[in-house]
Amino acid sequence: MTSTEESRRKYDALADRYEDIFFYVADVGRRLVEYATPPPGARLLDVGAGRGAVARAALARGCAVTAVDSSAGMVSRLAEDYPEMLVRQQDAGALGFTDGAFDVVTSGFVVQVLTSPQDALAEFRRVLAPGGVVAISLERQEIGRLRWLHELNKEFFGGGGGSPMTADELDALLLSAGFTSPTRVTVDIPKPLADPAALWDWMAEQGVADAVNALPTERAVAFREGFFRGAEEMHRDGGISITFGATLHRAVAP
Ligand SMILES: C[S@@+](CC[C@H](N)C(=O)[O-])C[C@H]1O[C@@H](n2cnc3c(N)ncnc32)[C@H](O)[C@@H]1O
Repeated sequence: MTSTEESRRKYDALADRYEDIFFYVADVGRRLVEYATPPPGARLLDVGAGRGAVARAALARGCAVTAVDSSAGMVSRLAEDYPEMLVRQQDAGALGFTDGAFDVVTSGFVVQVLTSPQDALAEFRRVLAPGGVVAISLERQEIGRLRWLHELNKEFFGGGGGSPMTADELDALLLSAGFTSPTRVTVDIPKPLADPAALWDWMAEQGVADAVNALPTERAVAFREGFFRGAEEMHRDGGISITFGATLHRAVAP
């Protein structure tokens, strides 16, 4: 089991505005497909396709694209937006395709949200033909100039959720799933924001406003004060910019 009911509900709720909020996924999706370098006509499976950031880049390269996602909301929008793709609601850890059915498997920002990434990687390998390529993107955690915000979140909401998967851990998982020749590259996508209010709005869309409102009133006020103090300082000190980082991983099925 690699997808929980809670995760499905979360992505159903995000489906409408997913790529507006997560401004970087379309760009990373294009780069991930370039990194996989599928030849035109390649049979490509995109797992955890979301609103199609990776899958649409594969279509643009002339691949025959199949896209799966565990969220019904994502799947129905994908099928509507891209009638030329075969779209199915499936779990990454239990793919409904025969062995060796694909030349390329892509998966953008998915393995780190799975409860059992190793089950998913075993499935990716099973559905790839010999010599097939897997290409996966992973969020890279770099705090940089947002350390003040990181500390504020820790103070009010705790560390929570354990450590995110690292690039080294993903390469090790790829090897233990039997893939060979793992390589990776890093990408950075900066997004300058106009002012502290724009940073607040961006965070609010990701659920931070709900989390703050759920705090006792005094704590909620203290969080907002701390936030705007930190953000004003950052604004004065070179401007507010979020730099989104990812690693792109590629490996080959034997
Ligand atoms: C962070 S989003 C990434 C979406 C897209 N790949 C992109 O790059 O924009 C993660 C996606 O994985 C899907 N997902 C989560 N758990 C899954 C699972 N076990 N099987 C298939 N899809 C899953 C979610 O519904 C969501 O659409």
